[in-house]
Amino acid sequence: MGHRSWMRSQGFTPEVFDGRPVIGIATTWSELAPCNAHLHRVAESVKRGVWQAGGFPLEFPAMALGETLLRPTAMLYRNLLAMEAEELFRANPLDGVVLLSGCDKTTPGLLMAAASVDLPAIMVTGGPKLNGKYQGADVGSGTAVWRWEEDLVAGRMTQQECFFAEACMSRSDGHCNTMGTASTMASMAEALGMQLPYSAAWPASDSRRYETAQRAGQVIVDLVNSDLTPSAIMTREAFENAIRVNAAIGGSTNAVIHLLAIAGRLGVPLSLDDFDALAADVPTLVNLQPSGQYLMEDFCYAGGLPAVMRELGGLLHGGAITVTGRTVAENVAEAPCWNRDVIFAIDAPFQPPGTGTAVLRGNLAPDGAVLKQSAASPHLLKHRGRALVFDSPEAYYAVVGEEDLDADEDTVLVIRYCGPKGYPGMPEVSNVPLPKKLLNRGVRDMVRICDGRMSGTAYGTVVLHVTPEAAAGGALALVRTGDWITLDVPSRALTLEVPDEELARRRAEWTAPPPVASRGWTRLYTDHVLQADTGADLDFLVGASGHEVGRDSH
Ligand code: FES
Repeated sequence: MGHRSWMRSQGFTPEVFDGRPVIGIATTWSELAPCNAHLHRVAESVKRGVWQAGGFPLEFPAMALGETLLRPTAMLYRNLLAMEAEELFRANPLDGVVLLSGCDKTTPGLLMAAASVDLPAIMVTGGPKLNGKYQGADVGSGTAVWRWEEDLVAGRMTQQECFFAEACMSRSDGHCNTMGTASTMASMAEALGMQLPYSAAWPASDSRRYETAQRAGQVIVDLVNSDLTPSAIMTREAFENAIRVNAAIGGSTNAVIHLLAIAGRLGVPLSLDDFDALAADVPTLVNLQPSGQYLMEDFCYAGGLPAVMRELGGLLHGGAITVTGRTVAENVAEAPCWNRDVIFAIDAPFQPPGTGTAVLRGNLAPDGAVLKQSAASPHLLKHRGRALVFDSPEAYYAVVGEEDLDADEDTVLVIRYCGPKGYPGMPEVSNVPLPKKLLNRGVRDMVRICDGRMSGTAYGTVVLHVTPEAAAGGALALVRTGDWITLDVPSRALTLEVPDEELARRRAEWTAPPPVASRGWTRLYTDHVLQADTGADLDFLVGASGHEVGRDSH
């Protein structure tokens, strides 16, 4: 009676307490997370579906992570969202949850939580923005910004033109409209079987986005009734499907970290090398920025992710079960493709197999590093150059405009102390812009090496996620300006050409940087965060606790 009475203060009639499934709608809505600012409206559509199917919907907030405003990086808080949502899912009397996400980290954060609690769950991502339109051309979120910033530095664009262009780029609700991290993770949620077919691509302002949300509200009640839980959907086979789909869509390198973290919550064995091995025979089928030409709105009209998954056919585990209650193969059997300029056929792909994410190893990255081949310059995939080393992106930015900077197009820019512990939070800073003097000379790409991440909307020949990171005493901390470094992507090698004895001598001289925080979340994070090669989760959050509230969960 107490529980009911307090809930009735919201005006619910007594029959909603008749034992029908209670469906939580976890929304990451916030005006501080502009990509998610429409999710309160999406939630209304979900509620309609839940009511229709005989459930009792209750919306509640989960931490909103806006990529553009949060300092020092939204990634510092992905695990906090995952922890907050996990506890809310478990502690409240819920039978199932609908996960409303959008901006980059909100999708993996909520999936990690759902994985650890293992209540029936379905994801509804908020959808991409409409295509940006500027001077008669389509412009992609983020990707265009990198280019305009370089144009501004090089004097090819005025500040006034930038003010105008930025509004043209963001003209509707939704997350970034390139195949950046948000679109990638929405696609991963769909490929894993955790959101309804076509969900990833409906634009945020398309009425079918709201239809899909309503449908998801109906489906979550079915999932509760059939007790189909995330652990039954996100199996090893589902992750293999997601990795292959990521290669086919030219997805973000951030998917590597997030999928590893989600798998870690479920106890599904998944390693960094799986990403290279499983993607090796998958061609890129999708011609979307930043690797290609088009944007998510075009992807939607061309047939969206089901068209890609149908094309992949036997490369996927067709028998993997999804939230629809049907298999992947059944979901995509009839999926049409309407535009072969956007979604290519498997026998005439956009890029050949083996152009996805490469996993590199060597004395500079003993536990691995990644490089997005489709965003790199082919002539730099085998490269030898002298290192120019900076201990932070800020140190580099302080000199990036200097005419006498000792760098040419063969220089390898090393930006370090940007890993999970180092910055902290592993920010997307690896694709630092080129030195101004080289931009003015027409140089458009250089090899950059970093223990941080790169925005999914960015491009360039950038070695990312170097593990162990510099702050954890990785070899990256031992590089000195002038050292020779060899990058050999075809051989998957990243080599610092310094003898072992010299590296040992440098290691003896190296001192770890002081802790970045003495208290609070950042202290907890830096004390417990794991390295990028296992997903940068917190060590005590790996694994699942289930949905029963017991001693372990308090
Ligand atoms: Fe939110 Fe790109 S900034 S998705």
